[in-house]
Amino acid sequence: MQRYWVPQLKPGIHFVGSRDWDRRMFDALVPLPEGTSYNSYLLVGEDAVALVDTVNPGFEGELLAKLETILGDRNVDYVIMNHAEPDHAGGIPAVLERYPGAEVLATRRGIEMAQTYFGVEPEGSRVVTDGDTVELGGKTLRFIEAPMLHWPETMFTYVEEDATLLTCDFFGSHTAAGLYADEDEDLIPRTKRYFGEIMMPYRRMADRALGKIADLDLDLVGPSHGPVYRDIGQILDHYRSWARGETGNKVLIAYVSMWGATRAMAHQMAQSLGDRGVDVNLYDILTTDTGDLARDLVDARAIVLCAPTVLSGMHPVGTGAANLVRALRPPAKYAAVLSSHGWSGGAMKQVEEVLGSTDLEMVGYIDVKGPATPDVLEQVDSLAADLAERLQD
Ligand code: FEO
Repeated sequence: MQRYWVPQLKPGIHFVGSRDWDRRMFDALVPLPEGTSYNSYLLVGEDAVALVDTVNPGFEGELLAKLETILGDRNVDYVIMNHAEPDHAGGIPAVLERYPGAEVLATRRGIEMAQTYFGVEPEGSRVVTDGDTVELGGKTLRFIEAPMLHWPETMFTYVEEDATLLTCDFFGSHTAAGLYADEDEDLIPRTKRYFGEIMMPYRRMADRALGKIADLDLDLVGPSHGPVYRDIGQILDHYRSWARGETGNKVLIAYVSMWGATRAMAHQMAQSLGDRGVDVNLYDILTTDTGDLARDLVDARAIVLCAPTVLSGMHPVGTGAANLVRALRPPAKYAAVLSSHGWSGGAMKQVEEVLGSTDLEMVGYIDVKGPATPDVLEQVDSLAADLAERLQD
C-alpha cells in the first residue's frame, strides 16, 4: 500500500492532490511531456471542513486516504467545485460516497454540470455567486466567478484570513514534479505553454479575472495543475501581458514538406527574418509537440504557415496547424503562407478558407510549381522584408 505525504501549505490548508507521472496526453490534444498534477486543497476550519476541487478519475483512493490521514473521523462539510472538468471534479462521486453529508458548492452552471456529469443530487448542492461567503470557523471562503477559465462555470475560491486564492486551471501548468513555484526553474515557459493551450482563446476573460483579483491580498495562490505560488509576483506580470495579447517582434514559422521545396522556403523565411533582427521560432509540424506551438503563439506577432498541395488541397498536417491557429485564437496580427505543388495548386484556397475566419491580416503568399529555385528564394526574402517591416507597426 502506497504511503502518502500530505503537505500543509498554511495552518489548516492541506495539499491533498495527486501527481500523474504517466499521463502523456490531455483532452486528446495537449501533450504532457512531464505528466501533470490534479491539485486538491483541504481547508480545515474550527467548525467545518471544505475540500476545494478533487482529482482525476483513478486517483480517488489516494485522495480519500489523504483526507482520512488529516481528518480521522471528522467529516467533509463542503465540496467546492471551482471547475467541472473531470480532472478536477471526477473524484466528487467517491468523496460524496465517503462523506454523504457534504454539500457541493459551485456556480449556477457548475451545479448543472455536477448534476449531469457526476450525479450530484439537487438537495446536496448549492449555487454560489460572486461575493458569496461560507464560514468554516477562522476561515472565510469567498467565491469569485471567473467564467471561461476554462469552461463557462469556472470560479475561484478565496480564503480571506489566509490571503489564499485557489484558481483551478488559472495560473496552472502541466507537470507532476515539485510543490512550490519558486523552486521551479522552468516555471515561466511551462506556464506560458499551458496558457497557450488552455487560456489563450479566452484571454479577454483572463484579463477580466486578473482585474477582479487585482486588489486581493495574495499570500498563496494554488492552481489545480502544477506548483503552488508563495509569490504570485513571479507570474503575474507575465499573465497580464499574455492576457492582454501583447506580442513581440516575433514570428512563428510552421512547416510541413514532402520533397523539400516547402522546407527550403520555410528555412529561407527564417534566415531572412532572423537576419533582419526578428525573433524566429521555426517548427517542422510533423514532429513538433503541439504545446510548443501553443506556447510560441502566445506572443508571436506573425505566423508563417508553410505547406504543399497534396491531392488537390493543403497537406492535412498544414491544414491541422491552420485549424489549431483558428481554435487557439492567438493575438498575432499578420500571416503569410508559403506553398509548393507538383502540377496543380489547391493549398492556398484551402488555407484562405481556414484563416479567413480569423483576424489575421495576410501580408503575402507564395505558391511555386516545382522546386524552390534561387528565384523563388529571392521572392521569399522579399516577402520576409515586407513582413519584418510590418512587425514594426
Ligand atoms: Fe484542468 Fe479545464 O481542467
